[in-house]
Amino acid sequence: MVQQFPHALRSRIEEAVQASTSRDQISRSAVDVSERYRRVQGGSLQMKNLSEAMAYLVARLPATFSANARVMEEVARLLPDFSPKTILDVGAGPATASLAASMEWEAEQFTLLEPNKFLREVGHDFITPEISGNVSWVEKDLSGVSSFEGGADLVLASYVLNEVAPKSWGKVIADLWSKCRGVLIVVETGTPFGFSVVHAARASASTLDGCYVIGPCPQTGACPLAGDENRWCHFSVRVERSKFHKQMKEGAQLGYEDEKFSWVALSRFPATLPDYRVIGHPSLGKVIQLQVCGADGMAKTLEIAKSSPHYKQAKKCSWGDSLDD
Ligand SMILES: C[S@@+](CC[C@H](N)C(=O)[O-])C[C@H]1O[C@@H](n2cnc3c(N)ncnc32)[C@H](O)[C@@H]1O
Repeated sequence: MVQQFPHALRSRIEEAVQASTSRDQISRSAVDVSERYRRVQGGSLQMKNLSEAMAYLVARLPATFSANARVMEEVARLLPDFSPKTILDVGAGPATASLAASMEWEAEQFTLLEPNKFLREVGHDFITPEISGNVSWVEKDLSGVSSFEGGADLVLASYVLNEVAPKSWGKVIADLWSKCRGVLIVVETGTPFGFSVVHAARASASTLDGCYVIGPCPQTGACPLAGDENRWCHFSVRVERSKFHKQMKEGAQLGYEDEKFSWVALSRFPATLPDYRVIGHPSLGKVIQLQVCGADGMAKTLEIAKSSPHYKQAKKCSWGDSLDD
């Protein structure tokens, strides 16, 4: 599935970089920032200057936006009556997850907690104007969440928990949950480490008041992939690459990149869970093979023959989709 990052926004960002006297520095920063994301796990990747923050907009924003948009599409499918009016986005960066949320739901108030001033600045200049609703930027880090007054219908933690120490994850999730009146979404990179963050959030659900795990899992018992050294729950979204993006990301040849991500949504409302979640690329043929996680708590491969009444539905399935018997 190709997720579209808004074209006009992408052009505005790229034109600003092209016109900038720091264009070369931003290009170098794009390489640095991408490299840091590949290399660093569990450490802070704070942007050190405006060039790095602009580089994040070019190099990472389309991919992290697309992962969020894909997750929110699924959450909206799972909770069709959920219509958040207030959104709290922590470690908001340039407002990536808020932008995706504003395209999925009609919210009125967005509160963005972001400690890094360079990301706040580029977010304010480029992304905030794209969000319909009132946007407030707050200079606060995750330790300030509990002192944040009031709550929000939707709480977003996108690609941020991996930047804090694992020993803090439980407390951060509990703090975020205490501010959540509806749904809390955690999105991370689709690496074993990213999954470990998401799994910690999922595992803490049982300790949180009135908390349902609604996705991506089709069941709320133990995760069958946790503790498996060779597998981790993650998904993939295809993101278009502009010519400029290819130039900035040295060595990039393809017109797209595949962003791998892991996610979990915790909710105050129960959802009707699917029978299966597809957890890998389907292998098509006379017999379709689908790697799935099932409502019975097992990760397995379904084999669906052409003669099966489910064949047509299975043929349309993509990695990340839900499937019913
Ligand atoms: C990879 S960026 C993600 C930004 C944005 N949420 C996104 O999805 O594109 C990580 C963000 O987490 C922020 N961050 C890092 N440590 C933090 C902390 N302790 N409290 C709050 N935000 C933090 C960084 O400033 C940065 O904006």
